[in-house]
Amino acid sequence: MADAAPAPRDPATIRREDYRPPAWFVPEVVLDFDLDLERVLVRSKLDVRRSQSAGPDEPLVLQGDDITPTAVKVDGAAFTGWKLVEGDLVVPLTGAAHMVEIEVELDPSTNTQLMGLYASNNMLCTQCEAEGFRRITFAPDRPDVLSRYQVRMEADKAKFPVLLCNGDKVDQGDGENGRHWVQWNDPWPKPSYLFALVAGDLVANNDSFTTRSGKPVELNIWVRDGDLDRTGHAMQALKDSMLWDEETYGREYDLGLFNIVAVNDFNMGAMENKGLNIFNSRYILADPEVATDADFDGIEGVVAHEYFHNWSGNRVTCRDWFQLSLKEGFTVYRDQSFSADMGSAALKRIEDVRILRAVQFPEDAGPLAHPIRPESYQEISNFYTATVYNKGAEVIRMMTTLMGPDRFRKGTDLYFDRHDGEAATCEDFVTAMEDGGDIDLKQFRKWYETPGTPRVTAKLAHNPQTGTATLHLTQKIAQNGEMPKASDLVIPLRTALLDPETGAHQGEQLLLLDKAEQSFVLDGHKDHPILSINRGFSAPIILESNQTAEELAFLSAHDDDPFSRFEAMQRLMTGYLTAKVSGTPVDRDIILQAVAKILADTSIDPAFLAELILLPSEGFLGDQMVEVDPQAIHEEREKLRGKIAVQFERQFRKLYKSCWPGEFSLDTEARAKRKLRNVTLGYLAASFTEDAAEIAFDQYRDADNMTAMQGALAVLSHLDCEERSAAFDNFYKRFKGNPLVLDKWFSLQSMSQRGDTLKRVDSLSRHPDFTLSNPNRVRALYGAFTGNQVRFHDPSGKGYSLIADMVIALDKQNPQTAARFIPPLGRWRRYERGRSELMRLALEKIAGQSDLSKDVAEQVHKSLA
Ligand code: TRP
Ligand code: ZN
Repeated sequence: MADAAPAPRDPATIRREDYRPPAWFVPEVVLDFDLDLERVLVRSKLDVRRSQSAGPDEPLVLQGDDITPTAVKVDGAAFTGWKLVEGDLVVPLTGAAHMVEIEVELDPSTNTQLMGLYASNNMLCTQCEAEGFRRITFAPDRPDVLSRYQVRMEADKAKFPVLLCNGDKVDQGDGENGRHWVQWNDPWPKPSYLFALVAGDLVANNDSFTTRSGKPVELNIWVRDGDLDRTGHAMQALKDSMLWDEETYGREYDLGLFNIVAVNDFNMGAMENKGLNIFNSRYILADPEVATDADFDGIEGVVAHEYFHNWSGNRVTCRDWFQLSLKEGFTVYRDQSFSADMGSAALKRIEDVRILRAVQFPEDAGPLAHPIRPESYQEISNFYTATVYNKGAEVIRMMTTLMGPDRFRKGTDLYFDRHDGEAATCEDFVTAMEDGGDIDLKQFRKWYETPGTPRVTAKLAHNPQTGTATLHLTQKIAQNGEMPKASDLVIPLRTALLDPETGAHQGEQLLLLDKAEQSFVLDGHKDHPILSINRGFSAPIILESNQTAEELAFLSAHDDDPFSRFEAMQRLMTGYLTAKVSGTPVDRDIILQAVAKILADTSIDPAFLAELILLPSEGFLGDQMVEVDPQAIHEEREKLRGKIAVQFERQFRKLYKSCWPGEFSLDTEARAKRKLRNVTLGYLAASFTEDAAEIAFDQYRDADNMTAMQGALAVLSHLDCEERSAAFDNFYKRFKGNPLVLDKWFSLQSMSQRGDTLKRVDSLSRHPDFTLSNPNRVRALYGAFTGNQVRFHDPSGKGYSLIADMVIALDKQNPQTAARFIPPLGRWRRYERGRSELMRLALEKIAGQSDLSKDVAEQVHKSLA
């Protein structure tokens, strides 16, 4: 199956099928940087070699973006025969090999896109993935051209005492007039997108790791003075990741030095540059006072993710950007497995599925749907998506499920071995898994080319005479609101049939659904068994089964698969709420009984208990409906929350008290208590008890950690009481100097359900601490707001125009971050008429601007098409 709507053959569209190998290779690159905040002189020497496959007079084309050469030499002599064609440097050359030298001047202080070489808090840093290197100098800026880099950096020693680049530091010295220089050499050939440099006044948390073959590695986490005591968790995560990759995948680190730098202004989470990872500071800096338990987990996961890229991404890289999931899907799967091993696998799985459903499923159901290996793009930055990353990870996970861990490992061993030092494709990965893991993945490959989330129906019939249970399965895929069509993906479904009395089963089976329709006959069931299917969320599908509320309640109490137990509760509540919203009569008592059972079950650990009693989000509920009415969803959900809260107020109070975790600790038990404490606090507030605001305020005031503070503020944020403003004002004053905590102050207000939130967000956009120049701050205020279903979707449409106006302003500064705000509006077809039209108008307003960036233009036009 190809893309739903093939993109027109316009020159702006890049297609996977048009891949051609490079005409020129560059085995060696020599770079010289003379660095300052407002002026950087870049001198490059490229050792260019004509490819065997290229014609004898194919010119050398070096990509450039927003730069001009101040001098060009070929083989040592000044050369004037070059042209700039749409930003690229075209150098007509004959012969097989030349030395090309180019000079470029940059002003990092004006680089607001945060791509290429830019300034952040008086330091200089780079971001080259995917196509940022061409904003630094002219080069074949494509991942299948691998070069060895030698880099000299020079700068004022007082302003930039630390000069970092990829690879090993091989020499350094002082120059005249207070300047100094460092020479770097990276022995591993790499594509330009993995190049990085950093210059600044930084201090390091310095540590070391010895690989299992006995090689010492120096580890540094570089931050600004004052942040050093917040780097301990990231350092531990790094060492844990290094050990885990040796033990789990047999992969060792391959340089004597591993540097990480934290920067405040960053478009994404972090970047895996060879030997010099650059991080958004939110994924490095943490201590209990400023970071929540979720922040600690995010740091562990992202540090691991970037470290794991050293093999899945750097040693084996991507041939072209259509293969992005080759490194990202696989690396997300690797970091998810690592985090599961470091903490609770069940809770991690619930969290991963929650993200998949909240972000990837809507993407797959809307106008921007694409396969994990896209067929075409206009701006590659728009394809760093939940589909490529998270669904990509699910596809790798399904391979593990199909092969089992040992054969999976044989497959990855062969993959790393066979493609080390190469730029590979997704097809190469699948072939290596087939050869190494001894499995046929011919039909499984369809996951790489099929957009949309499969809908699987499951019907279980039982014959008491023969004791057989027959499971009838079908699969279909719907794209962008069209009618679902039959599909034949390979869908591995971990399944068990539970005894209706005891909940016991005779063992889990792996059923492979690989046709549009299929029946499985399962013997040995005297009584009608209870179906437990897609256990552990073994396939990224939407399940539609004919299970009754009673059966779901049974599963929520008895299923031995923790994910399925959680899922049963979610489905029970989702079924009830969607029925209520559409006006269908439905029984609520069964939910209350299920909650009562869960609260009475003393064997459940507090963190898992919190997950079991949490309601599905308003966003998720909307995704289940043909036409979304955010107000109705909000009201019904609040009613159910209120009912559960009132009914079980006594238990929630007791649990709340019992969850006082005492002295702060990051261990599993203390974290579980903090989590349940916040969830029960939420219920206490929903029960309209008079002292809820007081309890929340006390929790805020007495807290010695950010998890408790943020939990209290989240509850207060929805209320109308003195305690709310007192706590928010106090929080602001206390953390004014910490940008990451101030982000929370903005987000918490954006996520408030209060009627005045829209107005508040608008006025916060003029707050002295708000700026469009910092992506974290933009996401804190506006990203949080677009997730606030009931307030973003205000029937006036003012929420939409707020976002549209922000996108228009931000696009002039930072197109990549601006484009990320189109998808929430792009879902316009899914909403009831009034809102739908207003969302469309907001998109039209953006589309009507002149000089839109490629990033925003692609997303807006696809959303309106
Ligand atoms: N490769 C990075 C990661 O895996 C993603 C990334 C970081 C990125 N910065 C970027 C992608 C800028 C596009 C643009 O996490
Ligand atoms: Zn990545």
